[in-house]
Amino acid sequence: MAEYSDTFLASKKRSDDIRADLPNHPEKYTMLTGDRPTGRLHLGHYFGSIQHRVEYQNLGIQCYVLIADYQVITDRDTTEHIQDNVYNMVMDYLAAGIDPEKTPIFTHSAIPALNQLMLPFLSLVSESELQRNPTVKAEQEASGHALTGLLLTYPVHQACDILFCKGNIVPVGKDQLPHIEQTRLIARRFNDRYAPVFPEPDGILSDAIEIPGLDGRKMSKSYGNSIMLGATAEEAAKLIKKSKSDSDRNITFDKENRPEVSALLTTAALCSGRSEVEIAAEIGDGGAGMLKRIVTESVNEFLAPHRERRAQYEQDLDYVKDVLREGNRRMNEIANATLDEVREAMSMVY
Ligand code: TRP
Repeated sequence: MAEYSDTFLASKKRSDDIRADLPNHPEKYTMLTGDRPTGRLHLGHYFGSIQHRVEYQNLGIQCYVLIADYQVITDRDTTEHIQDNVYNMVMDYLAAGIDPEKTPIFTHSAIPALNQLMLPFLSLVSESELQRNPTVKAEQEASGHALTGLLLTYPVHQACDILFCKGNIVPVGKDQLPHIEQTRLIARRFNDRYAPVFPEPDGILSDAIEIPGLDGRKMSKSYGNSIMLGATAEEAAKLIKKSKSDSDRNITFDKENRPEVSALLTTAALCSGRSEVEIAAEIGDGGAGMLKRIVTESVNEFLAPHRERRAQYEQDLDYVKDVLREGNRRMNEIANATLDEVREAMSMVY
């Protein structure tokens, strides 16, 4: 969605208005967010989304955290390691401050009524609307797989995720706004055709700085440039040590011309709450060695309390499983109630 298009500007305006309103009227909002359990969570996930979920939760907004396990098979052929990935995700959420009493954590595959919404929702979209979604195309190309029916229709499945619990806000990046538009369209069409059941949700755009990967590209597991939240101090140190820098000993923050050095500075800045320019000035002619030492210190200092809490959950897998089971139980109640309303609206009550 182009940044100057009317749809983008309208979404941005609604996002800004809601963000201003969140602290004043948390009770008006229900937030749905999720992650695909394709691997471990890293610092990019933390600064980009998990941190904000915790903030919203602590403002008193009803939040729901989805571990989108059915979305794993949109573009891959295996569910190997999925259980391990799911449990590790729960551990990172808990260690990061998600409170499961307030914020249920749940998985797609355990909520039949959520998935059943897919049937009426698919009838509300046309093939060309599905084909037009820009992220579907991009993801299919990146995966190198054929376009599966599930990948083609996953924006509709995301609409099920958001609408089954009547989510009215969804934190998103700019590139995710088309998904929210699709969800709004589905909600509107359902409400018009049958009866008003669903809210029209808004995307909440964040202005958080995106943490780059250690090589200056986007932090992504597939680039091997990510610091996992569960990494040990030694693993983090090793990764930072072997990251690229450049030969200029004078350290400056210049994203354009020195992406690797600047990525390291941003990592240190986010972890220590200082600015990149300040850290660069402190290092001066100290070179890449000193820069990496500072990055390692700030990352490890930042992650130490997370690691400590995480280690406790690793020792208590039964608790982790209970958290998920209880989250799934609560979300099934919500999903069943919504599906009842949907059946009623569609006169499918027998
Ligand atoms: N697509 C999201 C990701 O890749 C996960 C997700 C699934 C999601 N369903 C959602 C996010 C609904 C927001 C709303 O991490």
